[in-house]
This record gives sequence, structure tokens and C-alpha cells, in this order.
Amino acid sequence: MSFRLQPTPPARPNRCQLFGPGSRPAIFEKMAGSAADVINIDLEDSVAPDDKAEARRNVIQAIGDIDWGNKRLSVRINGLDTPYWYRDVVDLLENASERLDQIMIPKVGCAGDIYAVDALVTAVEAAKGRSKRIGFEVIIESAAGIAHVEEIAAASPRMEAMSLGAADFAASMGMQTTGIGGTQENYYMLQGDTRHYSDPWHWAQTAIVAACRTHGVLPVDGPFGDFSDDEGFRAQARRSATLGMVGKWAIHPKQVALSNEVFTPSEEAVAEAREILAAMEKAKAEGAGATVYKGRLVDIASIKQAEVIVKQSELIAS
Ligand code: COA
Ligand code: MG
Repeated sequence: MSFRLQPTPPARPNRCQLFGPGSRPAIFEKMAGSAADVINIDLEDSVAPDDKAEARRNVIQAIGDIDWGNKRLSVRINGLDTPYWYRDVVDLLENASERLDQIMIPKVGCAGDIYAVDALVTAVEAAKGRSKRIGFEVIIESAAGIAHVEEIAAASPRMEAMSLGAADFAASMGMQTTGIGGTQENYYMLQGDTRHYSDPWHWAQTAIVAACRTHGVLPVDGPFGDFSDDEGFRAQARRSATLGMVGKWAIHPKQVALSNEVFTPSEEAVAEAREILAAMEKAKAEGAGATVYKGRLVDIASIKQAEVIVKQSELIAS
């Protein structure tokens, strides 16, 4: 380990973030009643320009009126390239109740974007005497965002989570696809006549995970657009979980259970992790730094790997 220790990210489950447009208040109660750990009410791309002002009013009212239980409550503001974002921040921070936990900043391209929002949020919080500090989550969904991913993760102590936004990311990168996440038809290797599909999101995901883990931020996989394809969602989510992401978005309520299923360590995985920890305890007591578990090597690094799974499961259980 470096002299500089890896900070721990916020200790809360973030297995699923359920989205809904701020212009559709009829679904807010349903969102609150869902099994998602995080609720994201949207003011950005699912709200038409003419509906922005009304959506803001809906959201401010709903934050105070609806019982959101113990969910993390987040509002996605508009991007810094629009005329809407400052009004989103000012109206929310001036008028929404302290139940609001965080805001999501889309399409961030550099640390300066976070600095600008931080300055505005800090001023309104102070002016209004808000006692709870609003957290930030961001979406990496542009070439600039991924190029500057580490400075973005480090940009503010408010930073809590970072998601990959596959659709805008693909557009910004000039990728030839209209799919939102998952397997892409033309991204394959040939072995004889057999196609082996590869994962075009892989490097962006790992860059996000590395930046997040370096700076104590939760890495999250964004939307999977085809909500009639459960197996496609599972496959995408399992890859994300394997790479170190802690959760995924749901853009339809039916994706919530799928996401919770994948990002909750299975009983078998937890049992095996505990067995590895027990095997290493025994080895340590005998003065050994490594031992054999089910025919394979386990050593001090295995303890840390097993602890990731056990801690995640304990966090969710609590
Ligand atoms: N959260 C909670 N409940 C939702 C919901 C959501 N995001 N979307 C739909 N529902 C409810 C519907 O009201 C309906 O409830 P009912 O059975 O009581 O009538 C039920 O779930 C089934 O909905 P369905 O008819 O399948 O979907 P729809 O056509 O109403 O809406 C979408 C589909 C995709 C438009 C809608 O899910 C949506 O707006 N998703 C989020 C989009 C978004 O926020 N995008 C920005 C981030 S990428
Ligand atoms: Mg987007």
C-alpha cells in the first residue's frame, strides 16, 4: 500500500438508483415505495425544455411531502452547458426541505465544473442556514469526462458517487451505436467463423472504478436502455460488479430487483468469503502467510478480497 491510504467511500448501500422524470409526479410515490437504495428525480434529459420550471416545482414539493423512507434522495440537475442548471441549484437549495441528500451533476467534463456548482451550493447553503451539507454525484458521459475522470473524482469533499452514462458517452465518443449499454452488435473478434463479443464499455468502467477507489467515491454503472431484456441487464450488471462497481441505475421499475439481485453478494459468495477468512486465521495462528483452500492458493491478499464481499453484505444487512 502507498503511504497514502485508500479512503473508504460513503458507507451506504447503492445497489440500485431508480430514475423518474421530475415532470411526472404521478410516479414519485411509486419510486418512494420501490426497493431501490437511491432515488434520482430528473430535471435533465427526461424533462422537455418547456416543462423544466414546473418539474422543479414538482420536485421541491415532493421532497418535503413524500415519505422517502431511508432512501438516498438525489435530484439530477441540468448540465452546465444549459441555461437551466443555476436555477435548478438555487431553487432546490433555497426551497427544498433538508430531506434532500444530494444532487447529481450530469455531463461533467473537468474538476472546474464541480468547483462551479460547489461554489453556488455553498453560498446558498450559507445564505439559507441549511444544516445538512448536500452531497454530489456525477455522471461521466463525455470524452472530456473520461479524460479528466480522476480530477473529477477528487474535485470536492462533497463527491459521493460517479456513474457511467452510456448513451451520452457513446455519442460524445463518436461510437457507432444507438444502444444504451450492453453487448454491441459490431464489437466482436473472429475466431474462424465464430464471433466472440467483447465489451466496449470496459475501459471506461475500469477508469471510473480506479478514480473512484483512489478518492473514496462510489463507482456506479448507469442505464441499460432495453428494459425488456432482463438477461442483458444481468450480464451488464454482473460485469460491472466484477469490475468493482457497487450498483446500477434502473430506468424502469422492473430493473430494480435485477440490480439488487446482482449487487447483493449471494449467500454462497459470503459463505465462501467467510471460509477463506477462517482458513487464513488458522494459517496465521500456525505462523503461515499462505494456505490452501479448496485446492487453490489463498494468502494475505485473499483476506482483503474476502473482506470486500463480507463488508458489502454486512453493509446491506445493516
Ligand atoms: N419509477 C417508478 N414507477 C414507474 C416508473 C419509474 N421510473 N416508470 C413507470 N412506472 C410505473 C408506471 O406508473 C406503471 O405503474 P402502474 O402499474 O401502477 O400503472 C408501472 O410502473 C409500469 O409502467 P410501464 O407502463 O411499463 O412504463 P411507462 O410506459 O409508464 O414508462 C418509461 C416507461 C421508460 C417512460 C418510464 O419508466 C420512465 O420515465 N423511466 C425513467 C426515465 C428517466 O428518468 N430517464 C432519465 C435517466 S436515463
Ligand atoms: Mg445523459
